Amino acid sequence: MTHKVTKAVFPVAGLGTRFLPATKSIPKEILTLVDRPLIQYAIDEARAAGITEFVFVTSRGKSALEDYFDHAPELETALREKKKDELLKVLDATNMESGAIAYVRQHQALGLGHAVWCARHLIGDEPFAVILPDDVITGEESCLKQMVDAYAEVGGNMVAAMEVPASKASAYGILDVQPSVSRCLPVHGMVEKPAPGTAPSNLAIIGRYILTPQVLRNLDSQQRGAGGEIQLTDAIAKEIETSDNVHGYRFSGQRFDCGSKAGYLQATVAFALSRPDLRDELESFLQELVATRQAAQ
Ligand code: G1P
Repeated sequence: MTHKVTKAVFPVAGLGTRFLPATKSIPKEILTLVDRPLIQYAIDEARAAGITEFVFVTSRGKSALEDYFDHAPELETALREKKKDELLKVLDATNMESGAIAYVRQHQALGLGHAVWCARHLIGDEPFAVILPDDVITGEESCLKQMVDAYAEVGGNMVAAMEVPASKASAYGILDVQPSVSRCLPVHGMVEKPAPGTAPSNLAIIGRYILTPQVLRNLDSQQRGAGGEIQLTDAIAKEIETSDNVHGYRFSGQRFDCGSKAGYLQATVAFALSRPDLRDELESFLQELVATRQAAQ
């Protein structure tokens, strides 16, 4: 069986209630870090990992995402006439080859597992990636690329993993693993949003997955789990029982939880500080701001 991964599912059906009122009329995935929407970071990461087919699981009110990945002839003509080649190049990254991107609707908000299951007919019978755009990950090599390389060796199912403080474990899917220093760890169990004090480890699932089509079949009959939702974690956990080939991959890189306001703001500052055109001005602004606040205390 081939381990090459060319398709990725992007669950983008969520209501984004944590960012209301901003998300009343725009999808949260269009919110920007500096000048690029969250979804652009996810697509760039997927491309860097060799993904060529993109499946978006959407819901009502998400049509701005479809427009974002379409050509914009009037805008492109205007930029060409004004010889704004740099901006044309920036726009290039938002264009998709015809047929490379597909949209399916999740008609009911039944959970992440259900959202991924909605893409089953487009995935067919091959391994596929899942990227949660809320989790923005920076690093020298894209997180999904690191996983794709490791996956070529071990196959099966793989989830990105990261240590989290024990007090935060109940916000995540948590892996049951033996303590180890290696990046790629065999997983003996996984539990979605464990009750406080019951987490099997402090290694959390982060929103990058490489999954076998069997997980989609498990989702056919997946019962509701944590929070009354159909959980992707539960469908992957079944594979531990049957195939015993599920790995957690401790990626190298920094992860920002852009599903939360604090994480989103931290990402905004970090990305701006990594930009040569913004760094100096922002850095001195932040230094002054902190100094003024400290002086006032
Ligand atoms: C989802 C997954 C969870 C994972 C998390 C990572 O949860 O269900 O297992 O740890 O993403 O961001 P959510 O954040 O959608 O509640």
